[in-house]
Amino acid sequence: MEQAKIKNIISQMTLEEKAGLCSGLDFWHTKGIERLGIPSEMVSDGPHGLRKQDQAADHLGINDSIQAVCFPAGCATASSFDRDLVRKLGETLGEECQAENISTILGPAMNIKRSPLCGRNFEYYSEDPLVSTEIAGALVHGVQSKHVGTSPKHFMANNQEYHRMTSSSEMDERTMREIYLASFEGMVKKEKPWTIMNSYNKLNGTYLCENKEMLTDVLRKEWGFDGYVMTDWGAMNERVEALKAGCNLEMPSCGGTTDAEIVKAVQNGELDEAVLDQRLEEFLNIIFRYEENRDQKAVFQLERDHGIARQVEEECIVLLKNEGDLLPLSPDKKAAFIGKYAKAPRYQGGGSSHINSFKVESAMDAVKFCENVKEENIVFAQGYDDAEDLTNEALLEEAVEAAKNAEIAVIFAGLPDNFESEGYDRKHMRMPDCQNRLIEAVAEIQSNTVVVLHNGSPVEMPWIGKVKAVLEAYLGGQAVGGAVVNVLYGNANPSGHLAETFPLRLQDTPCYLNYGGEHDKSVYSEGVFVGYRYYASKDMEVLFPFGHGLSYTTFAYSNLSVGKEKMTESETLTVTVDVTNTGEIAGKEVAQLYVAPKGGTIIRPVRELKAFEKINLAPGETKKVQFTLDRRAFAYWSTQIHDWHVGSGEYEIQIGRNAQDIVLSHSVAVESEVHIPKVFDFNSTMGEILADPKGKAVLEQAMASMAGAEEAQEMGEQAQGDGGAINSEMMAAMMEGMPLRQLISFVPGVTKDALNQLLMALNL
Ligand code: BGC
Repeated sequence: MEQAKIKNIISQMTLEEKAGLCSGLDFWHTKGIERLGIPSEMVSDGPHGLRKQDQAADHLGINDSIQAVCFPAGCATASSFDRDLVRKLGETLGEECQAENISTILGPAMNIKRSPLCGRNFEYYSEDPLVSTEIAGALVHGVQSKHVGTSPKHFMANNQEYHRMTSSSEMDERTMREIYLASFEGMVKKEKPWTIMNSYNKLNGTYLCENKEMLTDVLRKEWGFDGYVMTDWGAMNERVEALKAGCNLEMPSCGGTTDAEIVKAVQNGELDEAVLDQRLEEFLNIIFRYEENRDQKAVFQLERDHGIARQVEEECIVLLKNEGDLLPLSPDKKAAFIGKYAKAPRYQGGGSSHINSFKVESAMDAVKFCENVKEENIVFAQGYDDAEDLTNEALLEEAVEAAKNAEIAVIFAGLPDNFESEGYDRKHMRMPDCQNRLIEAVAEIQSNTVVVLHNGSPVEMPWIGKVKAVLEAYLGGQAVGGAVVNVLYGNANPSGHLAETFPLRLQDTPCYLNYGGEHDKSVYSEGVFVGYRYYASKDMEVLFPFGHGLSYTTFAYSNLSVGKEKMTESETLTVTVDVTNTGEIAGKEVAQLYVAPKGGTIIRPVRELKAFEKINLAPGETKKVQFTLDRRAFAYWSTQIHDWHVGSGEYEIQIGRNAQDIVLSHSVAVESEVHIPKVFDFNSTMGEILADPKGKAVLEQAMASMAGAEEAQEMGEQAQGDGGAINSEMMAAMMEGMPLRQLISFVPGVTKDALNQLLMALNL
């Protein structure tokens, strides 16, 4: 609807009507005003399927919702590294929403995986902001192409479930920009989500619902967001402050209480009515956008979407290990499918994203209809009972026996529901002891053992050296069984790559010492060193690195070439690399481009992912992958200028199989075009001054003419001479950290007046 019409509608509202529109009608609906033709619209979770509640409503996934399709969760879809696939998933969700009269789906959930312990990591995409923002962007694009809104959440820094409603995420400006805001930035700028959901927590002491810096300055002014902001369910703190800060809609209903606060605030002059009008304009714009683009013909095609859920999951599964090419399995070999999850897979997580799946396909169901599988060659043994973490000796024995009589054992393991969920964090990264014991016992007697994992976040694998193959299926949605069987038997070639590091143990994780925080403050002291940025910078051994993923074929990289060897920061850089499928079957590879700054005075991760592309290759085929890098690929967030800054210097363009396996690299020299003016004082060090081109020139000239400089030099030369206490390198190193004021003490004849003059020249 045209802006003028919307303004006109607002002008006809009473103050009470205006205030009323700023909160929900009930749990899932926005309010309407019939006389003005404003419809009441339904929103619904999200993110990986519809949780449309017709009857009793709740935000914890307790009460039932309509029968729907559960697609793979975010942890899985990110591993596809496939924007087209996720866009298709978004389109499917958009169609389902149109069919079910849902105006906005509450997702994608896209917080950074700061620690593997976060209870909601299964919904989130990655530890890396580029992957997160690109995959979320693809989903938003797909949904919105069907004229349905999205609500990317939870904006922002909601990286733990512990005290999520009161805790303050405390971080410095650079960390916020480079990691936590960057996770949302690309998606907002490129895809313009219709709405954004602000998180429960505080950021540096201010609740996100009333955080003007985030909701107005960054989101709207800098990034161009033009939709409406709604609170997470019950995340409203001070209603009037929130309106001023840029939050439009309180969800769910407030029962009229805080609407009255708005009315009062306008009446007593605390809130300018123009601000209220502005919030309504932003809100109604979206309300009418949906209303005017309703697809009356849309039908919820359950069976079709179940098939899509399976296809998506096939592209997400990550082959973590495949010793001796044990996989794919031959249908003629006798296999024992062991573990409860082979019959009752864990395919989704607990909480607000919980879907009432219209059917669930297990691996044991799938062996009946998947091609290239002989059901008669497969036996099942339950192995464990995940209701409680106690080994059931009879089940264990039965499983070992089945494994002994088969040629291959496939163990379906992972994390039970109560190990990870919205609402609380994990305390450790272990799988249930009963499952670990089962895997050890089976691997002991069956050398051909495969483990298929159903979990939403990394687990420790004490048995990794004893099994030949591991498939990470994540929480793969209701069709996970078919997808896993297709991958096991080679009907689908695995192509997922990890969007997060699997550390060896919890103690290795960057925020191990302070995750969760104390006194409702969670200090992000690891800064920008999140996930692989930390492990790679420390060259640490991990279980499986970020970006890792095997295939049933092999790929070779060659001919890395850069468009130019030298560039200024405003130019773009074209990078090409050839990827060849060197194996016998078709497969997909994720080409990963990392940028590694060389030198400079800023503490930066050793490398960061700056581009990726998934490519499909026939056997023997070579494709040239092209990437275009702009200044952001080289930049860090400067706290001096409060902006992105590219430091002049060498940068290595690296192509990696994962974050810790770089196969090709090439250096380019990038020249900065923004000079950050330096202000020197008595405590500026010689090193700082000499590192600045102008500073160097001024200082050298001044030193040459300073009284006593010659004498000082002679003294220095004597000290450095034969048998002297220091050599010239040591001298330089010492000078590097010497503050200007010390020249008075160590260079005879240098006076405070002379230094004052020098400073004036330096700061001119
Ligand atoms: C969750 C949101 C969800 C909302 C509505 C909240 O508890 O944090 O992600 O969309 O409930 O169910």
